[in-house]
Amino acid sequence: MLRFLLLRMLLLCFASSLATAAQRGPFAMRISCGARQNVQTKPTTTLWYKDFGYTGGIPANASKTSYIAPPLKTLRYFPLSEGPSNCYKISKVPKGHYSVRIFFGLVEQARATNEPLFDISIQGTQIYSLKPGWTIQDDQAFTEARVFLMDHTLSICFHSTGHGDPAILSIEILQIDNKAYYFEPNWSQEIILRTVKRLSCGFGQSKFGVDYGADPLGGDRFWQHFKTFGQDSDRPRSVETRIKEASHPPNFYPETLYRSALVSTSSQPDLSYILEVDSNKNYSVWLHFAEIDNSVSSKGQRVFDIMINGNVEFKNVDIVKWSGDRYTALVLNKTVTVSGRSLTITLSPKEGSLAIITAIEILEVILPESKTLSDEVMALQTLKKALGLPPRFGWNGDPCVPQQHPWTGVDCQLNKSRGNWVIDGLGLDNQGLKGFLPKDISRLHNLQIVNLSGNDVGGAIPSSLGTVTTLQVLDLSYNIFNGSIPESMGQLTSLKTLNLNGNFLSGMVPAALGARLLHRASFNFTDNSGLCGIPGLPTCGPHLSAGAKVGIGIGAFITFLFLITCSVCWWKRRQNIIRAQQIAARAAPYAKKRTHFSRDIQMTRHSNYGNAHTAVENGPILLGG
Ligand SMILES: *[C@@H]1O[C@H](CO)[C@@H](O)[C@H](O)[C@H]1NC(C)=O
Ligand SMILES: *[C@@H]1O[C@H](CO)[C@@H](O)[C@H](O)[C@H]1NC(C)=O
Ligand SMILES: *[C@@H]1O[C@H](CO)[C@@H](O)[C@H](O)[C@H]1NC(C)=O
Ligand SMILES: *[C@@H]1O[C@H](CO)[C@@H](O)[C@H](O)[C@H]1NC(C)=O
Ligand SMILES: *[C@@H]1O[C@H](CO)[C@@H](O)[C@H](O)[C@H]1NC(C)=O
Ligand SMILES: *[C@@H]1O[C@H](CO)[C@@H](O)[C@H](O)[C@H]1NC(C)=O
Ligand SMILES: *[C@@H]1O[C@H](CO)[C@@H](O)[C@H](O)[C@H]1NC(C)=O
Ligand SMILES: *[C@@H]1O[C@H](CO)[C@@H](O)[C@H](O)[C@H]1NC(C)=O
Repeated sequence: MLRFLLLRMLLLCFASSLATAAQRGPFAMRISCGARQNVQTKPTTTLWYKDFGYTGGIPANASKTSYIAPPLKTLRYFPLSEGPSNCYKISKVPKGHYSVRIFFGLVEQARATNEPLFDISIQGTQIYSLKPGWTIQDDQAFTEARVFLMDHTLSICFHSTGHGDPAILSIEILQIDNKAYYFEPNWSQEIILRTVKRLSCGFGQSKFGVDYGADPLGGDRFWQHFKTFGQDSDRPRSVETRIKEASHPPNFYPETLYRSALVSTSSQPDLSYILEVDSNKNYSVWLHFAEIDNSVSSKGQRVFDIMINGNVEFKNVDIVKWSGDRYTALVLNKTVTVSGRSLTITLSPKEGSLAIITAIEILEVILPESKTLSDEVMALQTLKKALGLPPRFGWNGDPCVPQQHPWTGVDCQLNKSRGNWVIDGLGLDNQGLKGFLPKDISRLHNLQIVNLSGNDVGGAIPSSLGTVTTLQVLDLSYNIFNGSIPESMGQLTSLKTLNLNGNFLSGMVPAALGARLLHRASFNFTDNSGLCGIPGLPTCGPHLSAGAKVGIGIGAFITFLFLITCSVCWWKRRQNIIRAQQIAARAAPYAKKRTHFSRDIQMTRHSNYGNAHTAVENGPILLGG
């Protein structure tokens, strides 16, 4: 029994040490979108985390689009009813440099021709728009970009463009060297590098880094097999020799990559590669060489120029000389601005020699967008909850960026001196919104125009609104706001239009607002429960303090008590009189008449009627009439 326990403990120790060893590698996180369980895929038993229970999107079965896509069975898609933008927000990612790769999918049940086209952004910067035909080209079944993560979270958003529902098969976040694809002098930790093309020349077939046995720090790159530059223009070559200087920092290229190449022919010594690209963008071009041709044994035997779009970028390239030896990797990089729609790379050998090339990488250099001020983002999140914004608004990711896909109903302005976007307008009129206006709306310090007209927003108008001094237009008309207009609104000195008509507001309009009416501002207070105090509205009753109201209450109560007491007394007295009369009536039938008579005599004496007797005779008739 003891032996068994010891063995178990030993096994446990062994297992945990294995686990720590595995953790020491670069950070890697892979997500199988729409999966209910974590998935392990063959042959490398790669672990893919489930994303089931994720708030947005709909999980579905995926149909296979490309043999290079990971063998995953599910995807997540985002119909327009879920909003135009949907994001994966992945937290607890260690600070660092990452290769982020996203595979697209096709919903199995959907019609086969339905190929969605949408935009993708990372950290608020749009990195890619899917191109028609992506389902039939391997290296277009995914997009991949290198990005620095500084705040432990990664936000990846998918934006509808009206061409089908975005559908995502997988997301991979693979840590790479901090200086991967570093280039002088304009590289910074800010830039995003998106892979446009990555070609491995010569023999072989398309492979990922893992298939090449590459270092995991390389980010498991996909190398598309490139057979030829054109008919009879080149010959593939390959060797089994060891290649020096391949797999080292910062890029850790797989050594095997350099064992095959394309060599030009003497009939056509130039090699030219043309790639169609988006114009007016910057591209970083990485060219790979290794002298693996037996016919070249020393420097000076193969010399060529490299031109990019006609400009000589590298002159007299001599692989053996530049790399130091044969069978040694040489990597050259150059960043260029492309104004037209094509990027042409030409290798032009000197008299008598031929060109050779191992691999080509073309990356788009993307400058990151400025972000929205985080305090304003939080204020909008509070507003989203308070107004119960339906998902179709798609208030996900950053409100202002990518600039191509700002949040619905949010207007933004770039504060150049701060380098941040701020919110200067909210247009949420006639959207069927219910809820209330949170006091946090005042954290949007730059608001100029707010239109919430024609909703069912209620409660009080928050008095904090009075601190948003930039406010010029406030339209809260046709809602169910109640209470009074906060006094603080009088501080809104820039206010030109204030529409509060069609609500249930009551009480006095702040005097400062009333005064503004004279300055050609347009205010509408009509159709409310009882606003008062400015020209055009009824005058307000006496303005009473809380103390006065309590006083009045107490006074009213005392009066009430007094009245009750009086009426009780009166009733008792009346009962007594009636009883006395009944007794008297029974005792002396004429007593009543006499009583009246004597009273009438007293009255006539005061009224200066002549003869007392006449008066006495007629008195009862007159008084009784
Ligand atoms: C997805 O596929 C599984 C079997 O692979 C099946 O049981 C399930 O019903 C499918 N789901 C949908 C929505 O078609
Ligand atoms: C890219 O080229 C520049 C020179 O143009 C060089 O300084 C830099 O080290 C190169 N980057 C890498 C990663 O080799
Ligand atoms: C790189 O930056 C320098 C200044 O630091 C600038 O003059 C040059 O135009 C930039 N070049 C590119 C290609 O971005
Ligand atoms: C390309 O680089 C140039 C020089 O650094 C820069 O001025 C320009 O804004 C860049 N273009 C894009 C689209 O990033
Ligand atoms: C930009 O932000 C600064 C600092 O908050 C502020 O002083 C300035 O007024 C803002 N500029 C604009 C145009 O809003
Ligand atoms: C607010 O929106 C409503 C409805 O769309 C519109 O009629 C009104 O003119 C807008 N208010 C302002 C001040 O522009
Ligand atoms: C305003 O309406 C809400 C319900 O919509 C109610 O709870 C609140 O008491 C009302 N406030 C005033 C001042 O009438
Ligand atoms: C104010 O609002 C009412 C409806 O509530 C409308 O009939 C009237 O024309 C508005 N007045 C102005 C000056 O716009």
